[in-house]
Amino acid sequence: MSVLPLRPKSSALLGSLIREVSKDSMEQKGLIPLWFGEGHRSAPEAVVAEAHKAIDQGYQFYSASSGRAELREAIAAYVSKLRGIHVSPERICVTTSGNSAIQMTMQLIVDPGDNVVFAVPLWPNAVDMVDHLNGEVRRVPLKLGERGWSLDLDRLFAACDNRTKAIFLNSPGNPTGWMATPDELKAVLEFCRKRGIWAISDDVYERIVYDGDRAPSFLDFAGPEDAVVSINSFSKGWCMTGWRLGWIVAPAAVTDTLAKIIEFNTSGATSFVQRAGVVALQQEAFVRQIRGEYAQARDIAFQRLSAMGRVRLTRPEAAFYAFFAVDGMTDSVEYCKRIVREANVGLAPGRAFGPEGEGFIRLCFATSPDRLSEAFDRLEPMLR
Ligand SMILES: Cc1ncc(COP(=O)(O)O)c(C=O)c1O
Repeated sequence: MSVLPLRPKSSALLGSLIREVSKDSMEQKGLIPLWFGEGHRSAPEAVVAEAHKAIDQGYQFYSASSGRAELREAIAAYVSKLRGIHVSPERICVTTSGNSAIQMTMQLIVDPGDNVVFAVPLWPNAVDMVDHLNGEVRRVPLKLGERGWSLDLDRLFAACDNRTKAIFLNSPGNPTGWMATPDELKAVLEFCRKRGIWAISDDVYERIVYDGDRAPSFLDFAGPEDAVVSINSFSKGWCMTGWRLGWIVAPAAVTDTLAKIIEFNTSGATSFVQRAGVVALQQEAFVRQIRGEYAQARDIAFQRLSAMGRVRLTRPEAAFYAFFAVDGMTDSVEYCKRIVREANVGLAPGRAFGPEGEGFIRLCFATSPDRLSEAFDRLEPMLR
């Protein structure tokens, strides 16, 4: 069947290489899937109960594009308390996921020919969106040393020119588990101020840290009028990946425009899910509990992988991924396909995170200790 031409940028989309590995084997019997970025737990019980109640109570209609007032207030109060700053509800837009928050932020600021500078390897969706908007993607590799990944500020700044609209940092980072230091964030913010560049911070893993209660963010150092956008989501900290709920913190001067962009993208997040989001923000004990579980899983993952002869890795500082290099592996996509076939464990190929990720594999360790140990028993014959 012939179809009319699409936008060339749409026809050229490659799609996720994790999907490419998983597409034929997701239903495979006995599979241990550690390829996607989500934990094995479902949302806190109180959140589920609130969603049921909200449907029964009739929260089934459109909300304001930028979100229900009570959720914007709850998010503003949550961010203010978490960071010890004051964020007003006018600076918050509720979104249908962190993913859509990123897409709409890019729609807000990127014109064809503009460029956005990313520290990579990186979860691909933000990068691909800039390309899809006919913007230019500039990739600055994180450095890998004995003690882990780090940001090369000189290279980051050298990648910027007068068509640079934003520097985008995802810290804690997917897939590397890297975390920017407060000094690095301050330096980037200062540079952005001087050069008139947006500082975008993807903070979706901010609560998955193993030392302290939250990761640093641009928000810690920015004033309310600074050109800073913080992207966030209920997916990771509250185990709500399928609920599709996130938020943006931006200067109050742009949230009206963002609301217009939300209007034609999604017309606002699902009303009863927003009610549940208010309850999620009260579940501090849950956030701490899952973080404790992930800390234990990180130890298991690090210990088991370090003992495998072909594997090289550093201990992830944050988030819930082990991102490890495999000696002798030249094609991570083909190798991950082989791992699914031979070990029945689903892993994400490093190339899914850009060319800098080739040679690596990402394993999401947000699962039970038993399942994780079983996965490593199966992987050992291939990686020892
Ligand atoms: C770095 C990063 N940002 C944003 C997201 C988006 O999360 P969601 O769309 O589920 O809110 C993800 C999901 O994996 C991620 O890894």
